Order: sequence, then structure tokens, then C-alpha cells
Amino acid sequence: MDRDERSDWQPAPALLDHMRQPRNNGWLLQPDGQGYMLGDCGDEMAMWVKADGDRVERIVFVTSGCGTSHAAGSMATVLATGRTIQEAMRLTQQEVLTALGGLPKDHEHCALLAATTVQMACEDVLVRRLAPAESTP
Ligand code: FES
Repeated sequence: MDRDERSDWQPAPALLDHMRQPRNNGWLLQPDGQGYMLGDCGDEMAMWVKADGDRVERIVFVTSGCGTSHAAGSMATVLATGRTIQEAMRLTQQEVLTALGGLPKDHEHCALLAATTVQMACEDVLVRRLAPAESTP
């Protein structure tokens, strides 16, 4: 039976925790990378990363989305913190879903929005490092 067909489905403690008290919610000044994604549902998420060498030192998010998207952004940033940039770029929707103890089927895309925004922000760190330094006149 599909999870959403069960009448006894309850949000896991981790989901409730991250909905009520999102971690890493806000902005960063002078980030080393940033990502933005507009989800199919019309909600937006943006993230900013500070890197310490090859590691994600800090990553924060804002979203215009629902409570589960706040929980997903929160969990995705928690999972990405401390990983190498390359590892964080491989963060998946399923990892976020598993860490939250699952989401209702019609909100699983919130985890995809969060994981993809992490990937984009971390990819931007690498792109910026490859970009030639601006020359001053
Ligand atoms: Fe759009 Fe959650 S991100 S419904």
C-alpha cells in the first residue's frame, strides 16, 4: 500500500523538528557560491555557500515554499555542511527524504528542490574558482 493511502501516516520527529525550527535559514554575505531554483510547483529556493578549502563550511537557504520545503532546505543544508564540495554536489532527493523520515508523496518534490539547490550552489563554488580573476584597470 502506498504511504499516502494509509490513514495512520504521521510525520517523523525529524520532519516536525526541521519544520518548526529550520536550521541554516537566512543569507550569507560574500558567499563562495550560490544557487537558485524555481520548482515545478512555483516555489523558489536559494542557497549561499561558504567554503573552507574543499569543504562546505556553511550553507544557508531561503525559500518561498511550504513548511515541508523549509524542512527540506533545513535538512539538505545540515547534510551538506562539512562535506567536500564534490560530495555535496552529489546530495540526492532520496537522502533528504530519508533523513526527514519521509514526506507525503505530493510533497516529495520539496526534497528535490532542496537537494538540487545544494548541488547548484556547490557547483557555483567550483565555477567561480575556475573563472579568471577580474583585472583592474
Ligand atoms: Fe513547492 Fe513544497 S516546494 S510545495
